[in-house]
Amino acid sequence: MTDYKSFFDEIKNKVLSLIEEASSIEEITEIKNKYLSKKGEFSVLMSKIREAEDKKAFGEAFNNARNEIEATLEAKLNRFKEEKLNESLKKESVDITLPGNNYKKGIENPFYKVKKEIEDIFVGMGYTVETGPEIDSDKYVFELLNIPKDHPARDMQDTLYIDDTLLLRSHTSSVQAHIMEKAKGKPIKIICPGKTFRRDDDDMTHSHQFAQIEGLVIDKNINLGNLKATLELFAQKMFSKDSKVRFRSSYFPFTEPSVEVDISCFNCHGKGCPTCKGTGWIEILGAGMVHPNVLKMSGYDPEIYSGYAFGVGIERVTMLRYGVDDIRKFYQSDIRFIEEFNKKVEE
Ligand code: DAH
Repeated sequence: MTDYKSFFDEIKNKVLSLIEEASSIEEITEIKNKYLSKKGEFSVLMSKIREAEDKKAFGEAFNNARNEIEATLEAKLNRFKEEKLNESLKKESVDITLPGNNYKKGIENPFYKVKKEIEDIFVGMGYTVETGPEIDSDKYVFELLNIPKDHPARDMQDTLYIDDTLLLRSHTSSVQAHIMEKAKGKPIKIICPGKTFRRDDDDMTHSHQFAQIEGLVIDKNINLGNLKATLELFAQKMFSKDSKVRFRSSYFPFTEPSVEVDISCFNCHGKGCPTCKGTGWIEILGAGMVHPNVLKMSGYDPEIYSGYAFGVGIERVTMLRYGVDDIRKFYQSDIRFIEEFNKKVEE
């Protein structure tokens, strides 16, 4: 035999027509096993090479035929596989028009919304947000803030003591002393939001636990004008673009001078309304220039450094901003109350 090509073509054509007729993956696999497996009817023909006169031509003809069978077979097999996949994809497809499971989404308590807004406003002015301990010692809550033991100023805050020296902080001003201690004489520009505690009877405007944001700036040449500009910008961002700030002199042991800060009524813009009790002004926070004694006790030379501080109640700001009449509503987790708050600041 010398016409190897015709010899192999004959078998090849037979196998190709079987492939052509095959109509499933199983049939194709059967053909593959029958002809191309190690002992398959086609594969074994290779052994005849021993008897071939022209071994090279024999090998070539064998390989060509086998390659063609293989390629045709694989192509058809792949086509079947693809068809099968498409079919199952079609069957398993999801109907996206069906309604999904309806989970009720929670909404942020307005308290946290306002807390974040206050933080954003001050961060925008270059402040860093700090934290401090809620359980603290007498030293940080009072002494380093110029309120010595047995000083009558302690009566301003009805404090919850744990023992003789430990207590639940009655204001966030305690963080001032911690921050100054850490800063070791370097300039400071921070705010600190946090919980505060007082032995108050809970009513519409009082709660034994509430939250404040403390602000503290210490540097060279800091003055009352800086404080006023800062708080005015805060009021404008938080309440109304045209908000104004008014200082009334006051007393806090850790500031000198101390001021009570009012903002112009964002509801009636000064004309007088129930929100401002007819005065055109709303009391919003306490502030002042850091007392020289406070600076000294925490390692700052009051001849070189000066600073301002302020403390604002987060609930108070939220109540004003949204017209909430009862502070206790913030803590009762009543979803109907929480859902009410989507109002934007008046532009
Ligand atoms: N700590 C004061 C309070 O709770 C608020 C306050 C007033 C904070 C004046 C200050 C300040 O930093 O300078 O009533």
